[in-house]
Amino acid sequence: MSDFGHTGFSIDDLPLRDDLRGQAPYGAPQLTVKAVLNTNENPYPPSPELVEAIGRAAAEAAVGLNRYPDREATALRQALADYLGYGVDAANVWAANGSNEILQQILQAFGGPGHKALGFEPSYSMHPIIARGTATEWVSVPRTADFDVDADAAVAAVKEHEPSVVFLTSPNNPTGTALPLATVEAIAAAAPGVVVVDEAYAEFRREGTPSALSLLRTYPNVIVSRTMSKAFAMAGVRLGYLAAHPAVVDALQLVRLPYHLSTVTQAVALTALRYADELLSAVATLRAERDALVDWLRAHGFEVADSDANFVLFGRFPDRSAVFQHLLDQGVLIREVGPPEWLRVTVGTPEEMAIFREALLTATGRA
Ligand SMILES: Cc1ncc(COP(=O)(O)O)c(C=O)c1O
Repeated sequence: MSDFGHTGFSIDDLPLRDDLRGQAPYGAPQLTVKAVLNTNENPYPPSPELVEAIGRAAAEAAVGLNRYPDREATALRQALADYLGYGVDAANVWAANGSNEILQQILQAFGGPGHKALGFEPSYSMHPIIARGTATEWVSVPRTADFDVDADAAVAAVKEHEPSVVFLTSPNNPTGTALPLATVEAIAAAAPGVVVVDEAYAEFRREGTPSALSLLRTYPNVIVSRTMSKAFAMAGVRLGYLAAHPAVVDALQLVRLPYHLSTVTQAVALTALRYADELLSAVATLRAERDALVDWLRAHGFEVADSDANFVLFGRFPDRSAVFQHLLDQGVLIREVGPPEWLRVTVGTPEEMAIFREALLTATGRA
């Protein structure tokens, strides 16, 4: 607590927007424990070679730090386009500080007062929070019992509410559920505004699960959002990006801050992209670890949602907070998120998963 005088002065004394009064900020705990399995990061740190390459790139970038960065992030957008494939070019790609900033720019451009954003919940908790921050009305439509999006119900909801922005998270956080392309297409065809397919976990999807990137040519209102925070193991870099029609990129120029992406961020992200094969080599390991975890949980009588991501939603616990706390007491930090009675665990290293399994058996009296 700072000793700043003015005792008794609090947030309530500030001219805060009415719609922000009494709200809580987003905040997954950041604790130092044996197994940190709560924010869906990739557990494998960069190799010594990549660390050195990033250091060199940052040093080279430092020489020009008296100047503003490339406002258009041209080289980086080209490298991201090359990584994505699907005939995507730099003009289709936009990058920002994490996909959260991408989503915020989308809502700044297409949402705002008098506009609605619609999402299918449970889903990523930041979607409504970013909507709130941009004064966009949030419309929550429930997913089905197995966490899917019912295409007919979704189209009906879109027609009823006429949102400027629809969020489809696939694979979905916190449930791991991926959407069939037909559902995305039906919603894109019916939506009066843009449809954001948040594919933060795309690289983890199971064989045969499609990406909405294949819809971009047909549906100019579809925006696919991606990130280097998950499969790319670069959460600390803060680099998110989207692929869409170039007109969408033009629209975002109207709301982005000038020079929003630092020279250092651009240099580090470009270097990481050059090491894409190495960074993504852990994805196969994590997918196998995830599938093994799903099998293990089911074999031990837990209910588990099918997962196309690097985390697993499992239950059910009449008192999930107690289970969460029991795990934390044993040095295992997972996430109390999503529908009541369920918990979410990120797939970590084999060592971390062994610790988790043992702690879970203890916490649930199965040991
Ligand atoms: C579905 C989804 N979208 C976006 C993000 C944001 O990621 P970042 O801002 O690190 O790119 C997350 C992070 O957990 C997520 O789960």
